[in-house]
Amino acid sequence: MTDQYAVIGRPINHTKSPLIHGLFAATSGQDLEYGAIEGSLEDFAGDVHRFCAQGGRGMNITAPFKLQAFQLATEPSERARLAKAANALKFEGERVLAENFDGIGLLRDIEVNLGQPLAGKRVLLLGAGGAVRGALLPFLAAGPAELVMVNRDEQKAAGLAQEIGHPLLRVSRYEALEEERFDLVINATSASLVGELPPVPAGVFDRAVLAYELAYGKGLTPFLRLAKEQGVAQLADGVGMLVEQAAEAFAWWRGVRPETRPVIDQLTIPLQ
Ligand code: ATR
Repeated sequence: MTDQYAVIGRPINHTKSPLIHGLFAATSGQDLEYGAIEGSLEDFAGDVHRFCAQGGRGMNITAPFKLQAFQLATEPSERARLAKAANALKFEGERVLAENFDGIGLLRDIEVNLGQPLAGKRVLLLGAGGAVRGALLPFLAAGPAELVMVNRDEQKAAGLAQEIGHPLLRVSRYEALEEERFDLVINATSASLVGELPPVPAGVFDRAVLAYELAYGKGLTPFLRLAKEQGVAQLADGVGMLVEQAAEAFAWWRGVRPETRPVIDQLTIPLQ
């Protein structure tokens, strides 16, 4: 039987994962089927176990189930433990392995696809939610000069920084950023999903070479618009992150790393 994979979320109708994994399978010659499942809020674990019982080999997990996916894993990775969330599961007999590839996917997109290595750079990360939790370990491992995290709810950012306890990670406040300058500014808040701008002072973009918006397919969000007005040369949304995290999962499941560039090109919606 052909190996089965699926993405589970709610709602799931807009997911690009079956398209991405279908392209990966075709270009790397892997025999697999990849579907989409609308998960139930009452019985997420049941949905996963049913898929597994029907021969499922692995799943991608999207909102709102990443936390529950982590909780039902028998072997979460360190990244998943820190994020307290899983975006990929692998089933091996009774074992349920969990991973979180969101942060590493974001890092690969910035460093490899966009050509901006973090090493030695001053990096500003907006937000302290699930997306930031996933990004912190890979970002710190990339050796920035400093990684500054800001969040409206300052206690949340402070708590997260304390959990990590890394000398290169510092928490600031939005108002305190007036005098600070960064090389890379990354919006990992959910503000853009509702058309809002995080209260970031325009000056943080003064010497920035890249402004990155995690939301995908929203065009020039208020964050990217501000960065553009401030003259930031490179603007990006989360399409590359989406494809790179999928490639990490594909490689984890299949032992083969697919080519991502053609898939990113196919999914890119111009920023305008
Ligand atoms: P995700 O998993 O996408 O990170 P989340 O865990 O709900 O989602 O976190 C959302 C993040 O976006 C939080 O850091 C939130 O800030 P607060 O913790 O202060 O609420 C941030 N956020 C949402 N809307 C925002 C806005 N309009 N301006 C600034 N930050 C915002």
